[in-house]
Amino acid sequence: MFLVTGADGQLGRELRLVLGDRAVYADKTYLDITDEAQVSAFFAERKFDFVINCAAYTAVDKAEDDAEAADRVNRLGAELLARHGRRIIQVSTDYVFDGESPRPYREEDETRPMSVYGRTKRAGEEAVLAQADTAVIVRTSWLYSSFGGNFVKTMQRLGRERGSLGVVFDQVGTPTYAADLAAAVTAMLSDIPAGMKEIFHYSNEGVTSWYDFACAIMEMSGISCAVRPIESAEYPTRAARPSFSVLNKAKIKKRFGLAVPHWTDGLKRCVKTMERGE
Ligand SMILES: NC(=O)c1ccc[n+]([C@@H]2O[C@H](COP(=O)([O-])OP(=O)(O)OC[C@H]3O[C@@H](n4cnc5c(N)ncnc54)[C@H](OP(=O)(O)O)[C@@H]3O)[C@@H](O)[C@H]2O)c1
Repeated sequence: MFLVTGADGQLGRELRLVLGDRAVYADKTYLDITDEAQVSAFFAERKFDFVINCAAYTAVDKAEDDAEAADRVNRLGAELLARHGRRIIQVSTDYVFDGESPRPYREEDETRPMSVYGRTKRAGEEAVLAQADTAVIVRTSWLYSSFGGNFVKTMQRLGRERGSLGVVFDQVGTPTYAADLAAAVTAMLSDIPAGMKEIFHYSNEGVTSWYDFACAIMEMSGISCAVRPIESAEYPTRAARPSFSVLNKAKIKKRFGLAVPHWTDGLKRCVKTMERGE
């Protein structure tokens, strides 16, 4: 039996669809991962083959003014789950990198987060690797789903409201459909040996900018909104973001024999799912 924490988020909801009754799904009201007494009591009564930690403080800009809260969820919460759960898959982020790499980031590349969110997520990775018996970190990027709030839904809403929209073209990365990440995590679960402590990168295939991503969202959603490419300087945000955060997925593909769909394919399936109202 598996435990999915943060089960009401984008990835948690996609995992429900894939794992079904093979897992227990804990949202924040059922298990607050930052509450040590609660976490300790929870695991004293139950044992799981793996904890899949999808709980996170993901409001990247808000975190800049709320560092303590971000640290509690992204570092302390992850650490408590690792200490009490012992076997854990911890989901992390491309924002642990500074964007200066001349090529897609490999797992062993030096991290240099540019934001509170990135720093707390990196601290969570380190805590999990130090505390658990078996720890797998899966870094992903630009996550979206038909569940919850995300860039795809924001673009669809703004595109329907406005005739034109400026979107940054100087931040490059890879979108990831949370349903594809959920399928990848599920495939990994049966093939993680006891004692493994590794980091893996997973996103959809391909490379794009937020601008090109927005254009594809409009086209696939049948929304006629003119998307203009703008520079990040024209759209200042509270948190700094890496200008390049493409993840190299060679390691996860080889180790787990995964076939990774292209980001345009993932987006198509997500938009169709949204149209069906699922
Ligand atoms: N979204 C992205 O673009 C992106 C990119 C790269 C990596 N990631 C990583 O991917 C993972 C999944 O992200 P996601 O997009 O699915 O996140 P999400 O939709 O924001 O879901 C996170 C969930 O964690 C819950 N949570 C917050 N604090 C908690 C606590 N103390 N105890 C238990 N649950 C708590 C949230 O509940 P509330 O909403 O009620 O607070 C929410 O349901 C995260 O590790 C994230 O850092 C995300």
